[in-house]
Amino acid sequence: MDIRVIPDPVLREIAKPIEDINDDIVRLSENMIETMILAHGAGLAANQVGFPIQLIVIESSLNPREKGHIILINPVIVEKDLEENAEEGCLSVPGYYEYVKRAKRVLARATDILGNTVEFDCEGQLARALQHETDHLKGVLFIDILSPLKKALFKKKYSRKNA
Ligand code: NI
Repeated sequence: MDIRVIPDPVLREIAKPIEDINDDIVRLSENMIETMILAHGAGLAANQVGFPIQLIVIESSLNPREKGHIILINPVIVEKDLEENAEEGCLSVPGYYEYVKRAKRVLARATDILGNTVEFDCEGQLARALQHETDHLKGVLFIDILSPLKKALFKKKYSRKNA
């Protein structure tokens, strides 16, 4: 699948909740995982492949339950604690990496591909990935939550690159 990059408007759409986990959703999640792996990403939201629906995938190395890649439907962050600054990138913003302040610990709740409710109470990279990917579903990119100075530098750098 093609990964959409800025300024593709689908990245700014509010993703719709998924009401029925049908074959199309299962197939899409499998294709997203394949696309994420090929692109060497840690996570991917459905918006990024052109489907503004509430589906995200996260790479297996971040899965604390060691059950392969994480597929989450209608994910929500229900609790956030503390703050941590760490470097991030995004497949939709190629070639740009910057430090972003996010909650250090989160409690996320979602539906898995079998329709079961799942929760992740986590810190570190998984907590960061969950925040990054759920932001995508709200049309928010990591470049939107940079400090004003970094945001200005990003605009300068990226507009030059795309000129
Ligand atoms: Ni991203």
